[in-house]
Amino acid sequence: MRIARDLPDLREALAGRGPVALVPTMGALHAGHLSLLAAARQEVGEAGILVASIFVNPLQFGPGEDFARYPRQEEADLAMLREAGCDLAWLPSVEAMYPPGRATTILVEGPSEGWEGAARPGHFRGVATVCAKLFLQTGAQVAAFGEKDWQQLQVIRRMVRDLDLPVRILPCSTLREADGLAMSSRNRYLDPEARARAAALPGAMLAAIEAMARGTSPAAALATARAGLTAAGFALDYLALVEPESLREVGAPPGRLIAAARLGGVRLLDNMPAWA
Ligand code: PAF
Repeated sequence: MRIARDLPDLREALAGRGPVALVPTMGALHAGHLSLLAAARQEVGEAGILVASIFVNPLQFGPGEDFARYPRQEEADLAMLREAGCDLAWLPSVEAMYPPGRATTILVEGPSEGWEGAARPGHFRGVATVCAKLFLQTGAQVAAFGEKDWQQLQVIRRMVRDLDLPVRILPCSTLREADGLAMSSRNRYLDPEARARAAALPGAMLAAIEAMARGTSPAAALATARAGLTAAGFALDYLALVEPESLREVGAPPGRLIAAARLGGVRLLDNMPAWA
């Protein structure tokens, strides 16, 4: 596996190579990332080149967020990428990604408004900007993203459509731990006690979806889930049924149930399809 740390190096590594499949990451890799790599490889086959980027993107972290303490484990991540058959690891420095004097960012309206966009002002501007740069830097034909960050996935799809970027976005299902907790690099912030309770979030979401499917009114099903989570020690930021692409709230299924909640100081995100 080749490692590129600046643009000339990246361009040289990609020159004359086959179609590129990209998996953008911020590192701290886990089995969810490996599933993205496997899905991306499938898209381009052995003739293609599988690129994983590892870049903790300062532009998508707000003041007081966890940029400084975000887990960084380069050696372990590179070993995982090698094991997963990655051809090229793209590890730009902050200076390589954002040279001094830069003045351009990408603002995606619509799906970036509300929910994570409201809780983390500027977050999706940072995500959209870095993803557009990663697509253009690598010339990726396809890029894999986890459904775990549902709103992020919709923001990136919207940007790709609106800017006619020549990349196909490949959504990949959320991988879950045995107890149902969605895999995330930030799960490692959970202390053992909070980790033991964290699966109550997907549990309550699933119970609400099943209750709605049995005919319970969405308002009642969501109120029960909110009360249960609050009683279990979660500080709920939102739990809402939304139209999957626009993220606009809907009154009844079908839709996507999205949630963000704090437990033991850690912000957990999850989402699931809610059928009618
Ligand atoms: O989901 C992530 O890990 C990040 O938001 C991404 C897409 C790599 C952009 O920095």
